[in-house]
Amino acid sequence: MSEALEEKIDTGTGYGLKPNGPLRHLAEVGPGTPYGEVLRRYWHPVGRSSDATSRPRKIKLLGEELILFRTRKDGTAALLHPRCVHRGASLFYGAVEDDGIRCCYHGWVFSPEGQCLEQPCEPGLGLHREKVRQPWYPLQERYGLIWAYMGPPELKPLLPRYDPFENIPDGHHLMVNDAGVGGGGPADLDFNWLQHWENVMDPFHVPILHARFSGEQFTAEMALMPEVAYEYTSNGVRSTQLRVLDESRVLRRVTEVMFPNIRVVPSPKLSEGTTNMIGWVVPGDDTNFRIFTVAVSEDPEFLSKLRSTHGGKPWATLSEDEHQRMPGDYEAQKSQGNVSFHADDHLSTTDQGVAMIRRMMAKQIRAVEAGSDPAGIIRDAESETVSITGGNFLVPTTSSGT
Ligand code: FES
Ligand SMILES: [Fe+2]
Repeated sequence: MSEALEEKIDTGTGYGLKPNGPLRHLAEVGPGTPYGEVLRRYWHPVGRSSDATSRPRKIKLLGEELILFRTRKDGTAALLHPRCVHRGASLFYGAVEDDGIRCCYHGWVFSPEGQCLEQPCEPGLGLHREKVRQPWYPLQERYGLIWAYMGPPELKPLLPRYDPFENIPDGHHLMVNDAGVGGGGPADLDFNWLQHWENVMDPFHVPILHARFSGEQFTAEMALMPEVAYEYTSNGVRSTQLRVLDESRVLRRVTEVMFPNIRVVPSPKLSEGTTNMIGWVVPGDDTNFRIFTVAVSEDPEFLSKLRSTHGGKPWATLSEDEHQRMPGDYEAQKSQGNVSFHADDHLSTTDQGVAMIRRMMAKQIRAVEAGSDPAGIIRDAESETVSITGGNFLVPTTSSGT
């Protein structure tokens, strides 16, 4: 080939491309995986309090199949492995009784803590029944949610309290939502949880995805390109976004992630002040997650009204064509892949927040492997209430630092 011809050959085609794949140590959640073990050091919401009833319910959490129910007499919520320790029938088909659940196959009864209370076919209803234990996880109920701890029993921390949900003013309501992402999507989100969580530290997508593409999904202010600063906190990463509204006012919007999977995203519809809501991005497994959002507001419909629209239409009513023309969070994040190939990303200056989350996640993995507590673990009742700094604040130009 002549030299002149060679110069015209451009490279960078897709030929021979070898994808590097996901950052599995960060994305995977199952038992024994690096970040799965980090997640197992904290309490996680498994459902609303109303999800635990006398009818056993299948739950998937951190890659584990579980059965949730509530005993009839004391109303104690319980979370057990489904596979009966006797010979493996699923407790999903069990009957909930006063003090536990009775397996459908040979009638063994298990308490919420897995003790075997009765073996009806055995002599004396099971003279050695204390020798077996149905695998179980501790639960607590708070803020309308049921929380589970799935980690090493000896390292169980306190279930934190959160500033906005303590001392609720008169006339305000505590509420829970567990469906979809703000910009739409099915209730059970069908891709890897990390794509959603790291998006919380990606404020630059807002003016593009949520304004230029979806047609001003939030407010005119949110469509402005922000100036952003990121910082590590003791329990996560914080971003401060400044948007110059006019000559005298700047909007200072603060969002946070807290470990291991918490999002502090104030209303994108810009209610002023410290945020009134917190979300937990809870992985069912590597390709499914659910977001539990707790909020406090005078308006009992606050959370349902937050749901953004695409060209004025709710996400669920969009046609294929409209999904393509007006993509939102679901389309952007799901299309990164069921588990995104993070190792093929080209992070740029505006991805600093994403890079900081990934670095801090890797640090927590190392901490857990070294036998230390990861960030944000609370063991001291004096400091069990977590303060939130996220919010929307209107400040005069002179004090904004711009
Ligand atoms: S398999 Fe459950 S009691 Fe036999
Ligand atoms: Fe978004």
